[in-house]
Amino acid sequence: MRVMVLGGTGFVGRHAMCALLARGHSVIIGTRCPGRAAHRLPPQAQGCERREVHFEILTTRYVWQPLLAGTDVVLNAVGILRERGGQTYDRVHNMAPSALALACEHLGLRLIHVSMLGLRREARSRFLRSKFSGERAIAGSGADYSIVRPSLLDGEDGFGAGWIRRVASLPIHPCPADAVGRFAALDVRDLGDALATLCEISGDSLPREVELGGTARRALGEYLGALRAAHGDRPALQLSLPAPLARLAGELCDLLHLSPLSCGLLELARRDNLPRENLLQALIGRAPMPVGRDLPAPRRAYAFRVLPTGHETPVPPSPQ
Ligand SMILES: NC(=O)c1ccc[n+]([C@@H]2O[C@H](COP(=O)([O-])OP(=O)(O)OC[C@H]3O[C@@H](n4cnc5c(N)ncnc54)[C@H](OP(=O)(O)O)[C@@H]3O)[C@@H](O)[C@H]2O)c1
Repeated sequence: MRVMVLGGTGFVGRHAMCALLARGHSVIIGTRCPGRAAHRLPPQAQGCERREVHFEILTTRYVWQPLLAGTDVVLNAVGILRERGGQTYDRVHNMAPSALALACEHLGLRLIHVSMLGLRREARSRFLRSKFSGERAIAGSGADYSIVRPSLLDGEDGFGAGWIRRVASLPIHPCPADAVGRFAALDVRDLGDALATLCEISGDSLPREVELGGTARRALGEYLGALRAAHGDRPALQLSLPAPLARLAGELCDLLHLSPLSCGLLELARRDNLPRENLLQALIGRAPMPVGRDLPAPRRAYAFRVLPTGHETPVPPSPQ
């Protein structure tokens, strides 16, 4: 099978590509810079064909069609955290995937589209709304599609995952007071495996919506603690940041393109983002890899207030 992995140089794309290659499939990598992609690819993917794709201009099915020649399945793992010039949320997350779906329908190709949990039409963040619209357009396209919504990802070579690991390694964990939503983080290698399985499914068995998560459900403060515990470090002090302060930090990071912290991610963190039906184990055929470790006894913070920590289920803060 020949799979075109759009965003093949990215965190999700790289792991999906490795899983596909390990199963004997051939992969074509879609990237904005084929000439400079080599250093972002694992050794086993160095020989893969690369095709230049710029989502901001691929907004009709006619421009997609020649790019998809010779493929059986298209896996879209393209996403942006921040807009740059013409690379707007609407073009990259909505218009291009919607045109891609029409091209796939026309050419009879299967489309596996990587999205995320927690999207809502009424979200405040344009980032979240654009991804929601992209999903809707694909679902309405008539293509043979599967929309995959993973929870937060952990792994060694991801931009966001790397930041979260670094914060987790600090002796103090700052955490927005309203980041109470739980998520079920999963290992990116498991996601890669699940995506490879989905690429192999054809006909009526291809599930239209796939929600994926790990086994533990944690809010952000608990997750940071669990990652720290996984490295055997003493529990960190947990600092609850007032929500307006965290929002200001999100606005600043968005403005200056700093870190993965953004208003969209803060908005997501306020509500539970858990898979309704978690298909991870069914797709990979084994138990998911553990992410983080059960937490040791919590340590008291001496500023702001103590965040619930130490258990999967929040415990009430101790009186100060
Ligand atoms: N990371 C997570 O925790 C997580 C969790 C849930 C869902 N997701 C979703 O998974 C998808 C991939 O995320 P990721 O973490 O793998 O992101 P990533 O590491 O930043 O990779 C994004 C990829 O998109 C490509 N890209 C960016 N702008 C493009 C454009 N204008 N035209 C064509 N390609 C473009 C980049 O390729 P080039 O630079 O080579 O062009 C890059 O390989 C996103 O939809 C994201 O929302 C991620």
